[in-house]
Amino acid sequence: MFNKRIKIKELLSKEPAGQEVTVMGWVRTFRNNQFIALNDGSTNNNIQVVVALGSQDDELLKRITTSASLKVTGTIVPSLGKGQKMDLNATLIEILGDSDAEKYPLQPKKHSLEFLREKAHLRFRTSTFGSVFRVRHTLAFAVHKFFNEKGFVYMHTPIITASDAEGAGEMFKVTTLPVDGTAPKNEDGSINFKEDFFGRSTNLTVSGQLEGELGATAFGDIYTFGPTFRAENSNTARHLAEFWMIEPEMAFYDLEDNMNLAEEFIKYIIKYAIENNKEDLEFLAQRLAEEEKQLPQDKRSEMGLLEKLEFVLTNGFERLTYTDAIQILKDSNHNKKKKFQYEITGWGMDLQSEHERYLVEKHFKKPVILYNYPAAIKAFYMRQNDGCEAGKETVAAMDILAPGIGEIVGGSQREERQEKLERRMTEMHIPLEELWWYLDTRRFGTVPHAGFGLGFERMVQFVTGMTNIRDVIAFPRTPGSAEF
Ligand code: 4AD
Ligand code: MG
Repeated sequence: MFNKRIKIKELLSKEPAGQEVTVMGWVRTFRNNQFIALNDGSTNNNIQVVVALGSQDDELLKRITTSASLKVTGTIVPSLGKGQKMDLNATLIEILGDSDAEKYPLQPKKHSLEFLREKAHLRFRTSTFGSVFRVRHTLAFAVHKFFNEKGFVYMHTPIITASDAEGAGEMFKVTTLPVDGTAPKNEDGSINFKEDFFGRSTNLTVSGQLEGELGATAFGDIYTFGPTFRAENSNTARHLAEFWMIEPEMAFYDLEDNMNLAEEFIKYIIKYAIENNKEDLEFLAQRLAEEEKQLPQDKRSEMGLLEKLEFVLTNGFERLTYTDAIQILKDSNHNKKKKFQYEITGWGMDLQSEHERYLVEKHFKKPVILYNYPAAIKAFYMRQNDGCEAGKETVAAMDILAPGIGEIVGGSQREERQEKLERRMTEMHIPLEELWWYLDTRRFGTVPHAGFGLGFERMVQFVTGMTNIRDVIAFPRTPGSAEF
């Protein structure tokens, strides 16, 4: 059988006492025609394969180049060298796949993250990306574990939809009509989508929430975890055109219950990653510390990566209203010295990420939950608060802001009162007929309910310390870029 191999992670946990094993992996380095650092992706640590002088013929040794794939059988013994616990003394080396050292794009040296983005098909073979994507996996697993333990139903909401859940108009169109100008037209010259594949105009989903609400009003608690798409032209280190979102939706929850769940959830998945990916996180912490050495003192983080994660686990998130946040920003020295790029114009303004980051990184120095936002800057489905703040209407929205990232969660209690919801939709020009199925939940046994969306890549950024969102998703889609 071909696959009788031991993974290097498991191998390294054994006590070497001359056992025979077979490993398979890719060559990281080959020194002195004698020492192969072999990696199989199960861990960042390599197994040192020792080739006894004269034991292999020269033709074979020449083919042991960076990223060639090998099958090695041998015995494990305590290492004589420093830096590793064991050596694998090779008895049989088989080249599974050659790698032309002249042409292989990655050299055994440090490459910039920008360079590696252009080689995204090979970057998993580097230590940094090996760690990032193993941590990403662990976080994804923890998401399911958390909700499963709480009895939530995992719901697969559609990728192709006819509605704009956020009402923000940032959608990618889905069509099979020709784009060369010959698509069927209506009398007024607009495209006749009745002739399209679905018999109507459709797009890629921006959020599974609306369908999630349908699930919550039957199962009680559901969550989604899937890809979402936004055609917003934001070329930043925190925006993707295709990103993964986790959206729990809970019946019989108010805003406070919602905040409690979100905080518990974030802490749970961080803790799970620390417990299950310690080595990778230690590696990433060290990488980040090195990277920050290049920065001026005031741009460096006050805490190391692991310290920051531990801090988040052991401290409550600061909760304050939007109104209080505006006051803090207004009164800040930062504002008085006109250091914000976007002016603090006052109550009603949408917060820019520099404002959010000021609150989190400079003022509170911990994650912050802002709630009760002005109705005018939030989506149609959010529950209208009964009282007024600053003489204006607010909604039961909440955003969680994380150090170094800014907004990581957006959520709200939902407007369960049919009349109020319909009035708001009309005000915001959202066609009631198109969302008839959504409104039915308010007609038939409506209940108070709430939910939120966690941007998965932003969460992975937070846990791995990677500063650019393009480095925590395998193949990033951003404006002007859809390679691989
Ligand atoms: O705040 P958003 O737009 O909220 C919703 O979509 C709601 N339907 C969620 C809900 O209540 N069920 O997005 C939620 C989160 C943001 O806080 C952010 O973390 C992430 O999704 N996000 C993005 N991540 C990467 N790239 C983008 N372009 C993102 N847009 C939002
Ligand atoms: Mg938001």
